Amino acid sequence: MNENWVEVKNTALKWIEEAGEMLKDSLHDSLSVNTKSNPNDLVTEMDYKIERYLTDRILHTFPDHKVLGEEEAGADIQSTDGVLWIIDPIDGTTNFVHQKFNFAISVAVVKDGIGQIGIIFNVMQDEWFTAIAGEGAYLNGQKLASVTETDLPEAVIGLNGRWLAREKRSGEQSLHTMVRKSRSVRSYGSAAIELAYVACGRLDSYISFRLSPWDYAAGLVMLDEVGIITTDFQKRKPSFLEKSKILAARPGLHDQLLHYVHNHEGFDY
Ligand code: IPD
Ligand code: CA
Ligand code: CA
Repeated sequence: MNENWVEVKNTALKWIEEAGEMLKDSLHDSLSVNTKSNPNDLVTEMDYKIERYLTDRILHTFPDHKVLGEEEAGADIQSTDGVLWIIDPIDGTTNFVHQKFNFAISVAVVKDGIGQIGIIFNVMQDEWFTAIAGEGAYLNGQKLASVTETDLPEAVIGLNGRWLAREKRSGEQSLHTMVRKSRSVRSYGSAAIELAYVACGRLDSYISFRLSPWDYAAGLVMLDEVGIITTDFQKRKPSFLEKSKILAARPGLHDQLLHYVHNHEGFDY
């Protein structure tokens, strides 16, 4: 079946806008917050509520599609055959809980393993990053320019400082050296927002040692559209079903950064 991706995207935008309103409204109430894999891995009732809200609408409207979500949906999915929606109902839950700012809803649609739609909605800034494969990436309806090459001394890199705190080595291939040689480093606490910032040129690169498909699936579609190179630390394309390390960077810079991160493949972060 040939999907009309523009129609699917517009339908998704409507649902995501409604979900964004639910998130904003919830900020006035007291939230029940729990932890998942560790004391810093937070989840709220809103993570579940938004994921269910979107999943119900997707499966009702498109009964032959599948949904993989961070919290519950599609835990048994093992293949990207057919149309698969990949959802992070709140990316940046720590920001949502602590700052009420800098969190996003991230939604990707993938068909037979190929990303077709990417939507990242930065709820409190009301910024919509959207992309359809082959048709460009947009910020609030304005087409984003294709990126050009750059070098480390001129690059602003998105990186969570936690990874630096774990590094023991110093020397030419250390992350500490990479940070010193860069222009600067930023950390926003939402992988989806940071990938969207790379797409629109606010960051030149984003690096993470451990992300899940719902953190980066929408970003991947968007970054491809503007010419950002996105791989794991071995220069392989990240999977839509398995966790991956992520290095997204402008051409030229991507190879320079690989030199600093590729040896960290075996680290158990
Ligand atoms: C997290 C955020 C964070 C990244 C973590 C993710 P969550 O997602 O994207 O920036 O460093 O690895 O798990 O838990 O807020 O959806
Ligand atoms: Ca996430
Ligand atoms: Ca999440």
